[in-house]
Amino acid sequence: MSVGIERLAAYIPSYALSLRDLALARDVPPEKMTAGLGVHEMAIAAPCEDVVTLAASAGLRCLRRAGIDPGEIGLLLLATETGVDHSKPVAIFVHELLGIGRHCRVYELKHACYAGTAGLMTAADWVRAGGSRRRKALVIASDIARYELRSAGEPTQGAGAVAMLVGNEPRVLSLEADSGTYAANVYDFWRPFGRREALVDGKFSVECYLDALAGAFLQYRALERPPLGSQEALSDRLARLLYHTPFPKMASKAHRRLIEVDWRAAGQRLAKAEPTLDESIAASFRELAAPGIEAVSHIGNTYTASLYFCLAGILEREARALAGRRIGLFSYGSGCCAEFFTGTVPNGVESVADSGLRELLGSRTMIDMAEYERLMTTGELGGEPPPSFTGEFAFHGIRNDRREYGRLRASLAA
Ligand code: HMG
Repeated sequence: MSVGIERLAAYIPSYALSLRDLALARDVPPEKMTAGLGVHEMAIAAPCEDVVTLAASAGLRCLRRAGIDPGEIGLLLLATETGVDHSKPVAIFVHELLGIGRHCRVYELKHACYAGTAGLMTAADWVRAGGSRRRKALVIASDIARYELRSAGEPTQGAGAVAMLVGNEPRVLSLEADSGTYAANVYDFWRPFGRREALVDGKFSVECYLDALAGAFLQYRALERPPLGSQEALSDRLARLLYHTPFPKMASKAHRRLIEVDWRAAGQRLAKAEPTLDESIAASFRELAAPGIEAVSHIGNTYTASLYFCLAGILEREARALAGRRIGLFSYGSGCCAEFFTGTVPNGVESVADSGLRELLGSRTMIDMAEYERLMTTGELGGEPPPSFTGEFAFHGIRNDRREYGRLRASLAA
């Protein structure tokens, strides 16, 4: 049975900050952020937005695009590391806002940025096992990435959500069952109770990511079907490679590591003259990985949703070219857990390739440094949506220790 993503919808907040403005304010050469990290803009949530409203807006857009009645959802999985309560899951607020029926399994998943993939794999297994009984799963990855102002992590913030309808008619991505996984207890990135901003050992986190990539990919490689011709190039096996992208330069470091690991596993020596090796890796990056990071360079890190923004981005850019071809995806969550998996983009994908991402990117309001710092220091207070607001739901605030939300459009079918 084919199982995978039937429909995909994205949502990003309506504010964004230019990384050039951030660099000038922090007295850093702008090229360090735009070339060194590869980030041009990062999405910033308005006070009336939180991880629930981001998730619900993406979820609603996904159900509308698929023409699915919320009652057909039998499993709602919400992946986030921006939880709003120690006990009450983000998922149950979203369940109510989307009008999903009572007979639904609903929960939140957490393992840093890996949780989006944990949700996708769990939903796919639920469909394969027959638990769905012709119903669908809705997996939503939603996060707001925050680091301390003026810290090294500051240019790698962002916010957004991606919703994926999972079932046995995968029109967006048909998942292959084999994958490679990797896990290890490392302190590379974490957010202790009571802290709004993450703590990170930045350089170490990059090493942890690359080690996890090598570990997961090598396990996947041993299972790869059809069995590998030992010298077959990556570009003959996969049309694109998408990486969890905390900042675009990370994807280029990842691609280099993947190629090196693949070559060594194929018994090839990396003894070519250095310029030739670098040129060959750069060409492979341009072909296989660069298309996936274009959208993300205007959004920033979205933690659980990051990999799926890469997927949304390539489908909107080049659906026709990818139809019928296999792609590879690498998911990394600090702490850490990682997975390398593959899927085939079905023929006819063009008709479902619009996730709304391009339109959202084109309708944002750029904010200045003063507004950015005000938003980052006041936090999510809830409140009235700004005039340019594109979301479907608003966070009104916290009263009597209870969070309150409202729907901004009269009808879910609108
Ligand atoms: P930094 O201090 O800015 O690092 O921190 P840097 O000084 O090494 O500079 C970064 C790059 O800019 C370097 O390039 C410099 O050479 C270059 P590289 O050597 O790496 O190729 N550079 C310049 N380029 C052009 N013109 C210039 C210039 N100056 C310097 N003038 C760091 C960077 C990523 C560590 C920091 O931003 C950070 O801590 N970010 C947060 C952690 C992170 O994103 N880690 C990624 C891996 S872990 C992960 O992905 C999981 C995560 O998403 C969380 C989760 O799972 O939940 C984070």
